[in-house]
Amino acid sequence: MAATFTVGTVPGALPLLGHVAAIGRSPLEFMAALPVHGDLVRIRLGPWPAYVVCDPLLTHEVLVNDRVYDKGGPTYDKLRQVGGNGLVTCAHRFHRRQRRLVQPAFHRDRLPGYARAMSHQVDVTTGPWRDGHVIDVVATMNAFSTGVATRTLFAADVDETVLTEIQQATTDMFDGVARRLLLPFAWLDRLPTPGNRRFERARRRLERHTRQLITDYRKAGVDHGDLMSMLLAARDDESGGLTDAEIHDQVLTFFSAGSETVSPALAWAWHLLGQHPEVRAELHAEVDSVLGGRVAEFADVPHLKVTARIITETLRLYPPVWLLTRRTAVDTDLAGQRLPAGTVVVFSPYVLHHHPALHPDPERFDPDRWRNGAGCPAAERAFTPFGAGARKCIGDEYARTEAALALASMAARWRLEPLPQARVRAAPRLALAPRSLRMRLHRR
Ligand code: HEM
Repeated sequence: MAATFTVGTVPGALPLLGHVAAIGRSPLEFMAALPVHGDLVRIRLGPWPAYVVCDPLLTHEVLVNDRVYDKGGPTYDKLRQVGGNGLVTCAHRFHRRQRRLVQPAFHRDRLPGYARAMSHQVDVTTGPWRDGHVIDVVATMNAFSTGVATRTLFAADVDETVLTEIQQATTDMFDGVARRLLLPFAWLDRLPTPGNRRFERARRRLERHTRQLITDYRKAGVDHGDLMSMLLAARDDESGGLTDAEIHDQVLTFFSAGSETVSPALAWAWHLLGQHPEVRAELHAEVDSVLGGRVAEFADVPHLKVTARIITETLRLYPPVWLLTRRTAVDTDLAGQRLPAGTVVVFSPYVLHHHPALHPDPERFDPDRWRNGAGCPAAERAFTPFGAGARKCIGDEYARTEAALALASMAARWRLEPLPQARVRAAPRLALAPRSLRMRLHRR
């Protein structure tokens, strides 16, 4: 029997602003409350209507039909300002060729090499840690994953100041996009405000550095085993390879996709472990037996089962990519609702992950709910931190490896304690990160 779906409208839209003010005030609460209005719900983003899918089957339908539900809508219109025509942001008509060319860089064979850079970066990050000191966990995890992104992209001997400038410029651009996300009118992006000027400066700096790196790599002609070497070597019969402009967009894509997603996941994991000492004790027992105080390596990952479950449960409660949009390329029907070409459709892993019908007691942090794995049939559609279909995250294994190596290696030597009375809140901007998270280090 075909499933029947309900379609509803969210009340409270303001003239001109629609629901933008309510979303800006408390985005997570707004999103989590949507399923009571239906499986497909109509909201207004500024003056424009948009439909949010709140049911896993409908979400799946949207994600696998990427020809109909193409990349577009508010998040992608803004993200293109960073990722250009790279793999995350490109439209369907450019996608298959790019994915084919980029895929080998994420083949399982490449992971051990990337994992070496990740393990090394754990030492770089924890080197300055001192017993009893308080660290800014969000900034520290961000520096860690940006370091990993830098080293896995560019293993060549690149000037440190250039790499630091690239990291800073990527962060400035990402912040700029996050600020612009809820602005309903594109012309506001072009006003000469300090934020817009900083964004433009960062864009020009990044452009200059990546062009120079591409030229240097091409001239040297050496395979460094890094992402950049793979992008330069990528070939197919139809088009040859990626052009310099395409490589430039992929570099920016990997930089932002690689660093702005894993770091909030790690920060949330430390926060959750601080709130749940019984789970943290389980993690410590596992890393003591598998690692005995050393930094984890790629070969350890299959043995870090508690670590993996903690990461999965963290991605459920706080999916870093919490809200994304599509735009219908043609007239279509969804849940029996006619959607004309150009309609904005929103999907949110956060909504599905907090849906009480899909995850019993959804607000409870319970890594054991994943004892049977994250791939069991019921979980498959209700758990979508990496998306689904042809546009599913290409870096999911890379991200899980990075998160596991970091969490296990850091927990092997350190315990992170929450500060008394600290209130940790989510800052749902482009990625869902804690607004601020400071914790005290204890050497184990
Ligand atoms: C916890 C970490 C991560 C999360 C939660 C995450 C999440 C996602 C999601 C939800 C999508 C689908 C977007 C959509 O359908 O609109 C995606 C796509 C993508 N991600 Fe990730 N990601 C993570 C880490 C990474 C890393 C480390 C990289 C690269 C180094 C990466 C590269 C990409 C790329 C290139 C795409 C586009 C794939 C395509 O369209 O073919 N991601 N990611």
